[in-house]
Amino acid sequence: MLRSPKDFFKPLAIGAPAPLTEIPVRPARMVHFLPAQNARMRERVPELLTQVDVLLGNLEDAIAIADKEAAREGWIEVVKNNDFGNVQAWSRVNALDSPWFLDDVTRLVSEIGNRLDVIMLPKVLGPQDITYIDRLLAQLEAKYHVTRPIMVHAILETGGGVAQVEEIALASPRMQGISFGPADLAASRRMKTTRVGGGHPSYLVRTDPDPANPDAPRVTAQQDPWHYSIARMVDACVNAGILPFYGPFGAIDDPVACEDQFRAAFLLGCVGAWSLHPSQVAIARKVFSPDPEEVRIAKKILDAMPDGSGVVMLDGKMQDDATWKQAKVIWDLATMIGARDPEFAALYGTSAQA
Ligand code: GLV
Ligand code: MG
Repeated sequence: MLRSPKDFFKPLAIGAPAPLTEIPVRPARMVHFLPAQNARMRERVPELLTQVDVLLGNLEDAIAIADKEAAREGWIEVVKNNDFGNVQAWSRVNALDSPWFLDDVTRLVSEIGNRLDVIMLPKVLGPQDITYIDRLLAQLEAKYHVTRPIMVHAILETGGGVAQVEEIALASPRMQGISFGPADLAASRRMKTTRVGGGHPSYLVRTDPDPANPDAPRVTAQQDPWHYSIARMVDACVNAGILPFYGPFGAIDDPVACEDQFRAAFLLGCVGAWSLHPSQVAIARKVFSPDPEEVRIAKKILDAMPDGSGVVMLDGKMQDDATWKQAKVIWDLATMIGARDPEFAALYGTSAQA
């Protein structure tokens, strides 16, 4: 760490708000991507705000070059003209080496700096990228009288980023989280796949031939090409006190595989995923809200060990301090989701009040 720990929580520009010492934890089961250059999409925003935890104005990939400015200005209009209530407002800006980045950040901070929760930075190569945007945001916050710091979310989608993910996560108190970006990451690593997330039928292991019957078909099992990177990202985030997310799942026409990919990330520790299409909102809502049966078991464990210590047997399974903590992770998440989403509060038996 190059900066003295004593200075870490001081503003990086005179007049900028003091950095946050903790990341506010709010439900963020789906980060819904909005192409705000499209008037029809902008009209759908009030309805979307009743369905999503995070609405993100996308300015980067998937926005055609001719639409870059319209997407930026359309998103500013969306944030200004809608009451987001408890829905978070994020924006994915263009990459640092693009011709749009500087205007993206300047326009966003000057126009909606006090309403924007998070800026998502794509194609992060290392902690130096975070250091750069950290100072730039402080200067802009000071200039445009922003009263609370805008947080930064990195996309993990370069080989360099994965190699330095621990340093990226720790690079600034602004760091709010990291999303996994399988498309750019595959390209950066020269992986041989055109898919966006999910498995690949050729990435597999095979049992040995049967010596007595060498031509018999041999069982194969498909492997998960993303497991190592997602698990490493989760550890880096936990170590830094920030939040890990799964990113995009490209096969909109395969909701089953989307659900599997989201769930694998959820089980490994991710708190949410991106939804690129309205049909993926419901998938993320289902997957990233804990399973009511797990919540019931968690509550049972917590009730059986009120002070969280000792050892008890419950339905043939040993419970101790560690399983109490596992149960608490699930119960706390259920309580938080229930406070935002009354349908889940009813399923969990938690309170629907925030
Ligand atoms: C997301 O941006 C990705 O490249 O997968
Ligand atoms: Mg990408």
